[in-house]
Amino acid sequence: MSDTPPGQPEPRHVPVMLRRCLDLLAPALAEPGAVVVDATLGLGGHSEALLSTFPAARLVALDRDTEALKLSTERLAPFGDRATLVHAVYDELPAVLDRLGIARVQGVLFDLGVSSMQLDEAGRGFAYAQDAPLDMRMDQTTGISAAEVLNTYPPGDLVRILRAYGEEKFARKIVDAVVREREREPFSSSARLVELIRSALPQAAMRTGGNPAKRTFQALRIEVNGELAVLERAVPAAVGALAVGGRIAVLSYQSLEDRLVKQVFAAGAANTAPPGLPVVPEQYQPRLKLLTRGAELPTEDEIAENRRAAPARLRGAERIREDLR
Ligand SMILES: C[S@@+](CC[C@H](N)C(=O)[O-])C[C@H]1O[C@@H](n2cnc3c(N)ncnc32)[C@H](O)[C@@H]1O
Repeated sequence: MSDTPPGQPEPRHVPVMLRRCLDLLAPALAEPGAVVVDATLGLGGHSEALLSTFPAARLVALDRDTEALKLSTERLAPFGDRATLVHAVYDELPAVLDRLGIARVQGVLFDLGVSSMQLDEAGRGFAYAQDAPLDMRMDQTTGISAAEVLNTYPPGDLVRILRAYGEEKFARKIVDAVVREREREPFSSSARLVELIRSALPQAAMRTGGNPAKRTFQALRIEVNGELAVLERAVPAAVGALAVGGRIAVLSYQSLEDRLVKQVFAAGAANTAPPGLPVVPEQYQPRLKLLTRGAELPTEDEIAENRRAAPARLRGAERIREDLR
């Protein structure tokens, strides 16, 4: 049941693991002049909380989705020039900071994936539960749609994408069916793809793991938006932008993203000295300290209140030295 009073719109997005994100970043954001980056502004839930919790801090927030920027601009207007919102892909962070004349930042937050608004708006084509044009671009001003990927990619590439980004065991079966169907008529809407996946999968596979189209949709979304390639560049860039003592927190929603974040943090926290040195010279010492043991999960209470928090994995790290490598 919704707690929303009758006549009020449903809240569109409840920020995930909000308290814990704020706590992780807090020690770095108390000083006047601190800059915190929200790399995934979305509807501005985390950003609004950052601005109200850390009154001395200035926010720079990015999103590649112009609709999200429009809505958040209104939401964050009361904070005036403490908030700077920028239309950018998050691996452009160093260039954005450069343009703003900001040399280093004290905090960075990533809340990965799609927003509730993107999922809920049928016209964006992210949801497999409703029929919609197969678009899935987070930035609808550029790039190619999921329908174009499905209709034009060679079968081998589609199989690779479904396996790598969707961890789909039946990639080959699904792609064979897609290729047969697209020759008859190109794909344009999600319902036909969902139906095709249902008919292509063995009955036993339908009984487990929720909607059988989920993995294919995830894979197409990651491909359309280049999500993993962008993240692979963005997390090291964000770590590089942190001042010593600065902190980064990343919320991931699927294992491929979380693995990537884990690898970047683990590499930063590792001692890279050749074995056998009696004293580890400074350039080989870690530049990150991990702030979370493994990935932290949302509580059961939070999941009960906000089912979209369920897959969340949170990792945090602190920059502890300049890069001497
Ligand atoms: C889960 S939502 C963020 C929700 C936000 N924390 C809030 O509380 O409202 C993720 C947002 O990140 C944006 N996004 C995803 N990948 C991006 C990228 N590579 N560059 C910039 N923005 C991205 C999406 O457009 C979406 O609006």
